[in-house]
Amino acid sequence: MIVVSSEEIISQKVLPYDIYDEAGIKILEAGEILTPGKILLVRNHEVLYRKEEKTFEDIHQDYLSDEEKYNTVENTKKYGPLNKKSKIDFETQIELKSGYINALSVFNQNDVNRAKAMILEVRDKIIKDSQLIKKNVQFFSELKLLGEHKHTHPLNTAIYSVFLANKLEYNEVQIMEIALSALLHDIGKINLTGEITDPTKMNKNEEAGYRKHPLLGHKLIKTELKLSENIARVALQHHERMDGSGWPYGISSTMISEYAQIIAICNHFDNMTSSATNLEISNFREALRALLKAGSRTFSPKPLYSFVHMLSYGDTATFEELKF
Ligand SMILES: [Fe+2]
Repeated sequence: MIVVSSEEIISQKVLPYDIYDEAGIKILEAGEILTPGKILLVRNHEVLYRKEEKTFEDIHQDYLSDEEKYNTVENTKKYGPLNKKSKIDFETQIELKSGYINALSVFNQNDVNRAKAMILEVRDKIIKDSQLIKKNVQFFSELKLLGEHKHTHPLNTAIYSVFLANKLEYNEVQIMEIALSALLHDIGKINLTGEITDPTKMNKNEEAGYRKHPLLGHKLIKTELKLSENIARVALQHHERMDGSGWPYGISSTMISEYAQIIAICNHFDNMTSSATNLEISNFREALRALLKAGSRTFSPKPLYSFVHMLSYGDTATFEELKF
């Protein structure tokens, strides 16, 4: 709605648009002739509104199907392909990816407060959308966002984490913390170049940089984003393993925070289903099988088995099948 002055309305002989009052109630209709009585009615209101006019482009967009609207060459170039099998609608897929990419670039320009607000907006959208679609989701492949790993991985980890946290019956505040820590778990990689996420595929220098990301992430979250230790600890501990075989500290079991235990699973699952690990995984079921094989020596048993049984095990979609 946009404000329209009484002078502008009165200057028309025939109203070209509907007029609404402060409460959004239509008081005059397009096409009406302004009689003295109607002019008085207009003058009796302090503020009046009309709807924004549609441009030709708006009308054209309304006419297109969602696929035609969102599956464009420009969107694919900017945000990666859409997942045609996803229960997350195309518009939301684009909004989540663009929201996160824009937040990162604002963070890189050192506007930390704005970046934080943008990340929170993405987080809230994930939680809201998960609520809307949860009854219709059968497979993990119906949740996955496609695109450059460094942009989609935090989003996918957050989406899986919200589903898992719901299944584990965490409360609303905890789910918000879990989603935010998932979105930020790899923020310590912000200055790393390239797409490599698996230390076994790196040269010595790359590996040294990569190994610092949990500590860097913890520091960024605490000192720059000024978020709680709960959130920062996930960045620090998401590569730790239950048997102490992880890094950077090699801590084990309950020394690893509950949130980090959850996000470690979602993180690893998304890496496996993005071909970002050296494991031979070609579809979602194989990734679930690999999680089970890693078992409770690697991941905390309760979230691990809840994750594996949360959705259908028969998810044989390959990653290529999801793209247009
Ligand atoms: Fe990581």
